Amino acid sequence: MLKRKDILGLSDLKKEELELILDTAESLREVSDRDIKKVPTLRGKTIINLFFEASTRTRTSFEIAGKRMSADVINISASSSSTVKGETLIDTARNLQAMSPDVVVVRHASSGAPHMIAEAIDASVINAGDGCHEHPSQGLLDLLTIRQAKGSIEGCRVAIIGDIEHSRVVRSNIYGLKTMGADLVVAGLPTMMPAGIEKMGVDVAYSIDAAIKGADVIMMLRIQKERLSNPLFPTEREYSIAFGLNSKRLELAKKDVVIMHPGPINRGVEIAPEVADGSHSLILDQVKNGVAVRMALLYLLAGLKQGDN
Ligand code: NCD
Repeated sequence: MLKRKDILGLSDLKKEELELILDTAESLREVSDRDIKKVPTLRGKTIINLFFEASTRTRTSFEIAGKRMSADVINISASSSSTVKGETLIDTARNLQAMSPDVVVVRHASSGAPHMIAEAIDASVINAGDGCHEHPSQGLLDLLTIRQAKGSIEGCRVAIIGDIEHSRVVRSNIYGLKTMGADLVVAGLPTMMPAGIEKMGVDVAYSIDAAIKGADVIMMLRIQKERLSNPLFPTEREYSIAFGLNSKRLELAKKDVVIMHPGPINRGVEIAPEVADGSHSLILDQVKNGVAVRMALLYLLAGLKQGDN
C-alpha cells in the first residue's frame, strides 16, 4: 500500500514505494493488450485532469488510464476553466473539491502549484508537471522502461542530455534513478546547466560525446523554449551540431545502448530522425508504459483508500 495522499514528486519516494508502483504498473500493463481494455477496479471513482499547460501524452494517458479502470474522467484545460475569468487556482481547486473527486491530476506552469492544491483539498493530487520542478509520472514511466530493457536499474549508467536547467523530467529522473541505484551523468551547454547540479549526486559533462561513452541508457531532452526569456544558444542548427544525437555519435555508445526521450521530440534538433526511429529507440515503449504507470498511480491512490481492505 502507498501510505500517502498525493504524488507530487519523486524526491521523497522511498525505494520500496517506487518498486511498489513499478510492480503494480507491470501487472496492469496487459490490460492495454486485451481485446476489451477495461477492468472494474475504479468503478465509481472520479478523476479530474486539470491541465493549465499543453500536453498530448500525459493528459491522454491519464485519461486512458482512468477509463481502462472504469473511473469517470473529466478533463479541464486552462482555456476552458474559470481562471480565465479571474478565479484563483485555490478557488478553482476548492470548487472542484466540492464535487467530490477522488483524484485531481494537475499540470501547471508554476512550480509548486500542485502542492498548493494538495494542501487545500481532500482529494489525492498527482503532479503532472509543475514548471521546471518535477514530473513524477514521467520519471516513473522512465524507470519502468529502463527496468524492462536492462533487467535492473541498479548499476545502470544513464546519460541525460539537453536543457537540464528547465527540465522537470530530469529532476524527477535524477531523484528516482538515484534512489534505485543508477549511476548518472548529465550533459548540456553551460547555459543549460543549473549551478550546483553535482550536489544531486550526478556527474556533469559539457560534451555529448563524453556523456554517451559507456552509457547504458541515453535520455535526450527537448529545449524548453516556452520557459526561456533569452535563447541559450545561437541557432538550432548549431545546437544540433554540438548536442544533437545522430547515428554517427551513437557509434561511440555501447552496442546495447537504449535511447529515450519524454516527447515531444524536435526531429533534427536534439535527436536525428534515424535515431528516434531506429532500433535502439524506446520512445514509444515509454508512451506505452506511461499508461500502465498512470493506471498504477490511480489505483494505488484511489482504489485502495484506507479502510477499503
Ligand atoms: C515533458 C513535459 O511536459 O515536461 N513532456 C511530457 O510530459 N512527455 C517534456 C517536454 O515537454 O519537453
